[in-house]
Amino acid sequence: MKIYKIAVIPGDGIGPEVTSSAVRVLETVGAKCGIEFEFTSCDAGGCAIDKYGKPLPEETLDVCRASDAVLLGAVGGPKWDAVEPSLRPERALLGLRAGLGLYSNLRPALMFKELSSASPLKNVEAIDILIVRELTGGIYFGKHGRSDSAEVLSDGSVKGVTAYDTEEYSVGEITRILREGFRYAQGRNKKLTLVDKANVLESSRLWREIAASLAPEYPDVALDYLYVDNCSMQLINRPSTFDVIVTSNMFGDILSDEAGMITGSIGMLPSASLGAPGTPGMYEPVHGSAPDIAGTGKANPLATILSASMLLRWSLGEVAASDMIEKAVRDTLADGFRTPDIIGDSEGCVAVDTEGMTAAVLQRI
Ligand code: IPM
Ligand code: MG
Repeated sequence: MKIYKIAVIPGDGIGPEVTSSAVRVLETVGAKCGIEFEFTSCDAGGCAIDKYGKPLPEETLDVCRASDAVLLGAVGGPKWDAVEPSLRPERALLGLRAGLGLYSNLRPALMFKELSSASPLKNVEAIDILIVRELTGGIYFGKHGRSDSAEVLSDGSVKGVTAYDTEEYSVGEITRILREGFRYAQGRNKKLTLVDKANVLESSRLWREIAASLAPEYPDVALDYLYVDNCSMQLINRPSTFDVIVTSNMFGDILSDEAGMITGSIGMLPSASLGAPGTPGMYEPVHGSAPDIAGTGKANPLATILSASMLLRWSLGEVAASDMIEKAVRDTLADGFRTPDIIGDSEGCVAVDTEGMTAAVLQRI
């Protein structure tokens, strides 16, 4: 019997509810597939600020590093809005990404056909996009700061305080994420779109140069380029034509929310953050901590359950178990079970809460 070590970070808001659903699903699928899990729960985010005075305790990072994979719920909430920026709950995410070297963020935007009526777009038959977002570089991790200048401007005013954040990418960082993009495209529909702002940004021009130089190594992949502003339009205009999108940290953050929304519910979307082969990956739902519905039973656990399925596939290589979860989720949707976020055109559907949805998936494994 194989035993995998999984660090579980429930976090804040609906995080604890949805991770507990996913853990039960893993246990059930494990029992069917001869896999055992050793779960270690750790604190990060707002709850860690309350307990330890900091969003990412060293022990949490240590447990994650010693695990085969990490399952995370969500962090943050209005309770911690006033804390100083370096101690905000979101710092826990950035610290985990940097600390575990998770440079590649996979955010699939998949529209389940049963949920097409929940999409804000009309007449869309299929959306199946994989966003590959660079996760440990760019403006998120570039030089940040403020300066104060006594310089007098032409209108006679003093320049005063200036704030800056820097977009910076090295050849190594760009090459490694672009190669991921090409490889995922090879395993899918063989289309890779590099999204950037090369009409303005020097860093984007470097991304394009490197992409063009790598393309001959992946002759089966059709590479094209889109400016990020145009891409945000085309995701609405022709979502079915995208396959893999590869992009920087900041653009990926923005476009993945948009891509998520057009699929019908951000409550359905899983994600994986991966580093070097052989190191633990981190899996989390794309939705946030949704503090407004925490504890009400309205949270959709499927994004976290699907994140657990990604964990089995990408970190543990347990493909059969991963497939089993995906099939159970599809069957659950086909049988009409709907949490409030995906109720859409509710004819013939069974309205359920977090527990009801979890139970329906468990029954179908
Ligand atoms: C995300 C989130 C985070 C990000 C925040 C919470 C730091 O928006 O994972 O997309 O910007 O990366
Ligand atoms: Mg985001």
